[in-house]
Amino acid sequence: MNHIAVSILNCDFGALNREIEMINDSSAEWFHLDIMDGVFVPNISFGFPVIQAVKKKATKPLDVHLMIAAADRYITEFAQAGADWLTVHFEACTHLHRTVQNIHQEGMKAGVCLNPHTPVSVLEDMIGDIDLVLLMSVNPGFGGQAFIANTFEKVACLRNMIERKGSKALIEVDGGVDLRNIADLAKAGVDVFVVGSFIFRSTHPLQTIRELTEKSSPKYVI
Ligand code: DX5
Ligand code: ZN
Repeated sequence: MNHIAVSILNCDFGALNREIEMINDSSAEWFHLDIMDGVFVPNISFGFPVIQAVKKKATKPLDVHLMIAAADRYITEFAQAGADWLTVHFEACTHLHRTVQNIHQEGMKAGVCLNPHTPVSVLEDMIGDIDLVLLMSVNPGFGGQAFIANTFEKVACLRNMIERKGSKALIEVDGGVDLRNIADLAKAGVDVFVVGSFIFRSTHPLQTIRELTEKSSPKYVI
């Protein structure tokens, strides 16, 4: 089930309702919301009021990506704000297994994100407990950065681990995804493609999402 998760980080926040409607009308299946605290990453994005505003209008699941140092403290609040999928960073969670349990207890799907320098092998003992692995294909903090090519090897390695361990985890890739690399990523085994700037910089975002969906679909890839 390949699909696009639209990152709103670089959308027009002054016209948020219109941007949400555009995503509702598009072929994308998820909203991707990037939460940054200025501590874990060198940038601050948005918090609960924006998540709530998106939830009110969105007709698709919210995929919330936490780039914050103290994720454990806010898990209940993210559930209440409307997160359907909650992803935390491996590098920010000392007791990752407990964090994942807490996310599940709040009724959300749990994701774990790995920075570009973190090998997928760190998830060997947990892959059966998580619903999604988010591989950063840029260093987290900003939209619009160049895709790191080593991500392809990580996808292959992760796909192998997931099959070996009989895990049902989805593989999601985040950062620098566009029409040049999406088909190859799908071929490598990626399930969910986060795309932000490539959509919001384009002249026709709806059409761009349609093209990304087509290029990542199994039909095109085979
Ligand atoms: C980066 C964020 C991404 C970003 C998407 O820290 O996690 O979700 O908005 O990247 P681009 O803009 O490259 O598609
Ligand atoms: Zn993200």
